Amino acid sequence: MNYFTHSLASVFCSRRRKEVDATHRAIGAGTASSPDGLSRNSNRGRGRPRPDRPVFKCWKTTASAWAMALMLCAGCKPPGKPTTADIELKPEEVRDFAALYQQNCVGCHGQDGKGNSALALANPVYLAIASDDVIRRATASGVRDSLMPAFARSSGGMLTDDQIEILVHEMRARWKAKEALGAPPYAANEPGDPARGAAAYAAFCAGCHGPEGKGTKKGSSIIDDSFLALVSDQSLRTTVIAGRPDLGHPDWRNYVPDRPMTPQEVTDVVAWLVAHRKANAGQPYPGNEQAQKN
Ligand code: HEC
Ligand code: HEC
Repeated sequence: MNYFTHSLASVFCSRRRKEVDATHRAIGAGTASSPDGLSRNSNRGRGRPRPDRPVFKCWKTTASAWAMALMLCAGCKPPGKPTTADIELKPEEVRDFAALYQQNCVGCHGQDGKGNSALALANPVYLAIASDDVIRRATASGVRDSLMPAFARSSGGMLTDDQIEILVHEMRARWKAKEALGAPPYAANEPGDPARGAAAYAAFCAGCHGPEGKGTKKGSSIIDDSFLALVSDQSLRTTVIAGRPDLGHPDWRNYVPDRPMTPQEVTDVVAWLVAHRKANAGQPYPGNEQAQKN
């Protein structure tokens, strides 16, 4: 390429010089026959005429050819030859956590796992209660009847098992779980009771979500049909235990000062919420047979 630049510049320059010389000869001829006998050129007999301007132009040409060459071939590889950075990886070859997270998760779970429409995966309480297995299962198979898609190829997604492992391990490694001592377990160990749940709701939740769960200025409705239709029971439980720090939602320790929720209260309040779920949300005409079937 260097060679290419050089020859480009010199071809350009020598052509220029020929033109200049020709012009010069013409001017010289004119001078000889000029009546005042004065040369309009100032070479004053120093051999071949070498006017200043064209040489300067030639220098400029060389410089810009160099600049162009530099721009064309940073790294001086033969033109057109791709570097490793230019070769796009096939989707299944991407092994970089940041790229995998960015391409697949960021839209719903937010930058750096800080939450968006869906929970913050980088929430330390969440990472403390959710095992690798829980995270792997949700990522691979999705969550039924919710907006969480399945990503494993075996479930119709686009990610290989390897890529799912990278996501699971790196999320934990990068967004370290601080200890959340005494947090209720991820899954319920006891059956829930909606009646007891109503009491727990009044004690821990009504202050923000209103006496019936229909919302106040401090927290929106959480018994809304469409909301309950799209959220899993586990997601309600996850929210109650781990909170939504991104939305200003407390975790299990912080609803009432110095009075953390017990595992039973968590299970009961979730049962109370689930009891508000309608069989045919968004289908206001129960007579419609199709709606009944769905
Ligand atoms: C289209 C939005 C969307 C995308 C994209 C998405 N998620 Fe989710 N995710 C959700 C929603 C909504 C939930 C809650 C589902 C429920 O249980 O109701 C969820 C739940 C989860 C859970 C389980 C949370 C729990 O309660 O235990 C994990 C783990 C998770 N997502 C990981 C991921 C990962 C990893 C990616 C990227 C590979 C991803 N998600 C991409 C919307 C999304
Ligand atoms: C300090 C106020 C506050 C308290 C107390 C509170 N919440 Fe919330 N809650 C919020 C805010 C803020 C949001 C998110 C923004 C919104 O929906 O208004 C929220 C959202 C939610 C959501 C929806 C999360 C999502 O996926 O979008 C659920 C479910 C919920 N709260 C349940 C509860 C339950 C159950 C309790 C009691 C155990 C409770 N909240 C107590 C403030 C509160």
